[in-house]
Amino acid sequence: ANATPLVKLPKVQAHRGAKGIRPENTMASLREALDQGVRWTEFDVKLSKDGVPIIYHDQDLKRTSGIDELVKDYSFDELQEFEAGAWFDEQYRGEKIPSLEEFLLFHIEHDLHPNIELKPSDGEEEETSRRVVELLNKIWPKHLEKPLFSSFKLKSLEVVRDLAPDHPRGLLLYDDMTGWQENAKRLECSAIHLWHKMYTPELVKEIKQAGYVTATYTVNEVERGVELVAMGVESIITDFPGDMIKALK
Ligand code: G3P
Ligand code: MG
Repeated sequence: ANATPLVKLPKVQAHRGAKGIRPENTMASLREALDQGVRWTEFDVKLSKDGVPIIYHDQDLKRTSGIDELVKDYSFDELQEFEAGAWFDEQYRGEKIPSLEEFLLFHIEHDLHPNIELKPSDGEEEETSRRVVELLNKIWPKHLEKPLFSSFKLKSLEVVRDLAPDHPRGLLLYDDMTGWQENAKRLECSAIHLWHKMYTPELVKEIKQAGYVTATYTVNEVERGVELVAMGVESIITDFPGDMIKALK
């Protein structure tokens, strides 16, 4: 049997929720993505000090909470004390750093599909994957399509490959594609999620011929989205999902 799960990616995925008009990776951002009509969302997951999977992009708390400390040095309860919305706009004051559990329950309730980007704090590449799989096993309904895992971190993908082989995996790449074929093969990835400036028609073709579905980030110009889809890219990850959905109709 082929160990690599098949995945059909949607044309549009919401990046960190609807990051363009809401504070990223918050419930406000997730609700807005749903309101804009998206079916798939991408968001970043790492661990609190006490091992709770949370939705957060950076390694430190500076940009969104003004605190010049690492996320991994705070427990989940401590992180709840921090502001996660006011940095973006005063009207979002009161937004918190969500737990993955809260995010997933919202997905289940509203029939949204998660692209869980494993974004571990340094040194927590394996533990992050283990904790995420543990939570999914507890709360993700068996009859629903399995969430997609994506990551830049090979170690994190390796752990989900071993612990949750039936969840599809996407290999995230930025501007260095060295070894991508070997890594995607070894990690039994279904998709390649590559930075959009790297794509050329030839490269799209090469990746697809190698058997992978193609996704790209972060595409905020609808013209560029249309161009990428014309090249054959299947899935556009964007801060403005509603606009991209309209443009790609
Ligand atoms: O998953 C696509 C994209 O989110 C990867 O980059 O830094 O926005 O997490 P980043
Ligand atoms: Mg991300």
